[in-house]
Amino acid sequence: MFNADISRTAFPANFIWGVATSAFQIEGAADADGKGPSIWDDFCRVPGVIADASDGRQACEHYQRWADDLDLVASLGVDAYRFSISWPRVQALGSGAFNEAGFAFYERLVDGMLARGLKPFLTLNHWDLPSALQAKGGWEDRDTVQCFVDYACEVARRLGDRVASICTHNEPWVIAVLGHESGIFAPGIKSRAVAIQVAHHLFLSHGLSITAMRAQGCKADMGIVLNLSPIEPATDSDADREAVRQADGNDLRWYVEALLCGEYPAEFWTAMGTDVPTVLPGDMQAMRVPMDFLGINYYTRVKASAGAPYDVKSGGLEVTDMGWEVYPQGITNLLLRLHRDYAANGLPPLIITENGAAFADTVSADGQVHDEPRLRYLQDHFAAVHEAMRQGVQVDGYFVWSLLDNFEWASGYEKRFGIVHVDYATQQRTLKQSALWYRDFLRGQPS
Ligand code: FCB
Repeated sequence: MFNADISRTAFPANFIWGVATSAFQIEGAADADGKGPSIWDDFCRVPGVIADASDGRQACEHYQRWADDLDLVASLGVDAYRFSISWPRVQALGSGAFNEAGFAFYERLVDGMLARGLKPFLTLNHWDLPSALQAKGGWEDRDTVQCFVDYACEVARRLGDRVASICTHNEPWVIAVLGHESGIFAPGIKSRAVAIQVAHHLFLSHGLSITAMRAQGCKADMGIVLNLSPIEPATDSDADREAVRQADGNDLRWYVEALLCGEYPAEFWTAMGTDVPTVLPGDMQAMRVPMDFLGINYYTRVKASAGAPYDVKSGGLEVTDMGWEVYPQGITNLLLRLHRDYAANGLPPLIITENGAAFADTVSADGQVHDEPRLRYLQDHFAAVHEAMRQGVQVDGYFVWSLLDNFEWASGYEKRFGIVHVDYATQQRTLKQSALWYRDFLRGQPS
């Protein structure tokens, strides 16, 4: 469907190519050097919630192996590396004393990136909230907002002069809905009202922290990362079209319009009934802070249905190991839609902060990992992003999720998203075919 011969030169010269990870998924060292526990450390101990009953205590041992891992990143020839800070590593309790040893790790990491010519793209919250804050109510509690602002300012004070970009939160929808409504992610709460209040506090802490970091003089680009999908009807029925409108209102518009327009879509607010969040005067203005970028994580499209949930496998479509349809056209559609509907609301330049696919990879007898489906997935999505740019959308960068196979949350280590294979018994890293292809793509060599 797309131009499979897409080359780097088709993109602007200053387009940022990168790879992404997050702290909890790769670092391990769960209580090394003064790190406090996070809600994901706790959640992993709940029987039955992680598919393979694993946890993040060891993960990819990135805390020890960071220098080799950065060498690997640099060897790909990317421009940038997206990583996250583990809040409880740098502030065990999420308030009060900061942990020097924890900050020393991220100082080494950021300096290590700069030494290798990599632009650091920092995320402040990739879900691992300090357990001590959860004990006081976590993101449902308004006091967590100020704790986050204090933490963000300290990170900006120490690292803000060296990082290219600071993202406040990764995927507020996942934190709110999967963490607090369906409860399949940490902290495992099941209440829609709580989820909506959590989202509100995430938006508020996003806006307040950006304002505070900028007031301190931090010059890094600042924004947030949303997981967004185009939502389409499972069938042509009126009921399914209505289901699309609802899902789009609750999952896309609620998030985008809070941040860009400073208001929740009125119709969906009304429909929320008694679940609406407590909003204090000034909140909506505070969360609508001008952003330097909006990060988009895209994996697949969503099919909404008024009846039984749509079964993606029924249509004979290609799916990944997560059961997610491979649908590159979806990223073009999503980017065009954001541009069409929100350019007038000050939509900032977009960055694809995550895109990638899980497949059940193994190391073959020849020592290679033949992950052609992932290679094709990336190639087609590069072309699909390019198509949106050709039609006028400003996209400034693209990060592959993920550098390494890692702890895939409730799926544990069973799902492999890396372009680099990790043998968890030996911690050996092996570049998959997709990584070699990405490297060649970045070198401008034909595939
Ligand atoms: C996103 C997360 C990331 C990873 C991918 C597969 O929702 O941000 O950590 O788990 O999905």
